[in-house]
Amino acid sequence: MSRPPISGATTVAGVVGSPVRHSLSPLIQNAWLQAAGVDGVYVPFTPPADGFDRLVRGLRGGAVRGLNVTLPFKEVALAMADRVSDRAKAAAASNLLIFHGDGTISADNTDGTGLLAAFAAQAPGFDPKAGPVLILGAGGAARGAAAALAAAGARQVRLLNRTAAKAEAVAAALGKPVVAFAANEIAAALMGVTAVINATSAGVADSAELDIPFELAPRGAVAMDMVYTPLETPFLARAKASGRRTVDGLEMLIRQAEPSFEAFYGQRPDPRVDVRALAIAALEARKAEAQA
Ligand code: ATR
Repeated sequence: MSRPPISGATTVAGVVGSPVRHSLSPLIQNAWLQAAGVDGVYVPFTPPADGFDRLVRGLRGGAVRGLNVTLPFKEVALAMADRVSDRAKAAAASNLLIFHGDGTISADNTDGTGLLAAFAAQAPGFDPKAGPVLILGAGGAARGAAAALAAAGARQVRLLNRTAAKAEAVAAALGKPVVAFAANEIAAALMGVTAVINATSAGVADSAELDIPFELAPRGAVAMDMVYTPLETPFLARAKASGRRTVDGLEMLIRQAEPSFEAFYGQRPDPRVDVRALAIAALEARKAEAQA
């Protein structure tokens, strides 16, 4: 099926971030729209760094159905909403705003379900309840992952961050089962884990902090990196070399997009559309362009 021409009834949604130029969300969402023949469109919005609240205020009333929110606006998005889902509250961030006709805004967060769905897709059998999970980092992405794992019944979620105080603050905010480890406690933090998640922004840089001795983790432990440029980060490459299963950040991006599509356009995306292949092709084309 192909998407009907833009009409007077086209549903508009989009992604807002700064920068947003390299977002893969328009590619993914429009591929689903096209496959379903939905009269909808998904476009990027880039307000100036101090213009996010003006943009969102202007959209109150529902001219635009909703927005995915990416860096650096996820926290302020939450603050601007009239209604906030429990999972967005726990993550202290929103990646999904819906504008209602009555002028109100609701905020949700689908990053956590995206993370768990990525594990289910690429590391089948992984059970968040089965044992402790280690998260590297203590920023917004780490907090969101910790909140989602805690909500999924994880027995213990360990946070280890270069700046230990930040990990302690997140653990204090989320409470049990989230605990902080000091940066020099990596060996203890890896003991018995079922997964190690890189939620730092250091995936590409070959950071010493991410030189994880995966052999100290159980054989069955899964490594997951939220960064997806490159698709196989040095962190994932090391995990693979030590025989561990891996989950990549692109899968998480796609899986968080699915409930967003449903919220915008009222139906589930067709799983037969290979948005992963489309996204990989786009990433490869971008890489080739950068090298040219
Ligand atoms: P996000 O919202 O994506 O989580 P953030 O809030 O800026 O981004 O958090 C970035 C995280 O990556 C932090 O945990 C940061 O560690 P610090 O708190 O010590 O700054 C971590 N990080 C960034 N660069 C890193 C590096 N080179 N090595 C290890 N950790 C790094």
